[in-house]
Amino acid sequence: MRAQTETQPNNNADSPYSLIEDRLDSLRAEHRYRFLRRVETAQEARIMLDGEPVLLFCSNNYLGLANHPDLKAAAREAVDRFGCGSGASRLISGNMHLHEELEERLARFKQYPACILFGSGYAANVGVLSSLMERGDIIFSDSLNHASIIDGCRLSRADVKIYRHRDTEHLESLIRDASGYRKRLIVTDTLFSMDGDLAPLPDLVGLARRHDCMLMLDEAHAVGVMGSNGRGVAEHYSLDDAADISVGTLGKALGSFGAFAVCRPAVREYLVNHARSLIYSTSLPPPVLAAAVKALDILEAEPERRQRLAENANRLAQGIRALGFSVPEPVTPIQSVIMGEEAKAMSLCEQLLQRGVYAQGIRPPTVPPETSRVRFSLMATHTDEDIRDALDALASSLAALGPPSLRRARE
Ligand SMILES: Cc1ncc(COP(=O)(O)O)c(C=O)c1O
Repeated sequence: MRAQTETQPNNNADSPYSLIEDRLDSLRAEHRYRFLRRVETAQEARIMLDGEPVLLFCSNNYLGLANHPDLKAAAREAVDRFGCGSGASRLISGNMHLHEELEERLARFKQYPACILFGSGYAANVGVLSSLMERGDIIFSDSLNHASIIDGCRLSRADVKIYRHRDTEHLESLIRDASGYRKRLIVTDTLFSMDGDLAPLPDLVGLARRHDCMLMLDEAHAVGVMGSNGRGVAEHYSLDDAADISVGTLGKALGSFGAFAVCRPAVREYLVNHARSLIYSTSLPPPVLAAAVKALDILEAEPERRQRLAENANRLAQGIRALGFSVPEPVTPIQSVIMGEEAKAMSLCEQLLQRGVYAQGIRPPTVPPETSRVRFSLMATHTDEDIRDALDALASSLAALGPPSLRRARE
């Protein structure tokens, strides 16, 4: 039985719990307090959210595969044959033929000689960067790269230089100043997760080649979405295998869970021996592996899903621009309405919810200060009417908040 004192509140002002409470109070005061909303249905265009029906505009289920009957059937069959869990890490008893089959499929799909799976995109970025790069090396990272890249850079103990977002001149000046390092690596999101813009890949590839740097891409939001075969932004620019390492996730457009890195066979071997998020973590379970293989089948067989997603993205972008906000070119399924202050972004999010539209407010530290926003993501399963309804709700929500200069923060 637990000692009574363990469960009683600690009123000591210096206790760890009072420090935690203080930090939570500050987050509330800064309008940065986060909380969880509950989705009570599958990831479809129309969902139940905290008991209310809403249109979903913040899921990464870009192609509508997460609830696809064929993925569910594949997952069910894998559970029946191989069970729910893989039981161990890849290096112990958790390497099943399903892992190897999916890796072969992904390598072929991405046109790389080798592939290695990770438990998530977060684990992939952290694992690759922290093992491949070390003290004595240098990493050049875009200022708006995903948190998992930032954390991987920190864990690597390499020197890290941050270049201004998409600014290849700034990057080149940093590279020129960085001599005497053993390995140099440029890392970038390809489709930036918060702004929906693309990395300047042709320039980055040229820079990497000219200056003998390795290039690592994070195609998390681009796999299944960009390129004529859905291989990502590298395919969009006809630079398919130009990067040394390319990370993708299975949990977004591919409707399953987990992630992968494609690379040279020697890099795969190196990661199997050094990437701690791979070595010290239970491998992906059978149902998600089988669902991902099925997702790749559907991706190849049904390009019309990607086409429909692109049409939806164009339709939403047109409406957002008509309301006076900018959407970068080329248009992608991630589009942000930038409000500036945290409270304004959250007020817009709440106004949209009151009108039956769920697009999440995003604040620092996820985005830089003064760029808090409501981020919309599109799915191939949105109808024209869904997008019209979302735009109507956006227009009336913005009107309810008043003209930009007068929009008062509401709690
Ligand atoms: C650019 C980027 N990379 C990596 C990740 C992490 O992927 P996962 O959700 O598979 O951990 C995300 C997740 O949102 C992302 O946006």
